[in-house]
Amino acid sequence: NCYTIVELDTCIACGACGLVAPDVYDYNEEGLAYALLDHNTGNKPLPDLLVDDAIDAKDGCPTDSIKISDKPFNGDPTKYE
Ligand code: F3S
Repeated sequence: NCYTIVELDTCIACGACGLVAPDVYDYNEEGLAYALLDHNTGNKPLPDLLVDDAIDAKDGCPTDSIKISDKPFNGDPTKYE
């Protein structure tokens, strides 16, 4: 399984992730990104066909705010750092 979450504290609302992975990430009213699937808790496994998009978004994020793990995050983006 593959889980994803956005660290809002470091996201600079650059907008790249939603372009690369529009089915995985959306933006809040401040333009900060969050994971659509599970309200940014990082607890719901991504559907297989969205995993590559999520990885591309992670690779493209200028502030390394997109986290991906094979284990759930329980709402904590820094859980595995
Ligand atoms: Fe934020 Fe990175 Fe997306 S800075 S808007 S999480 S590409």
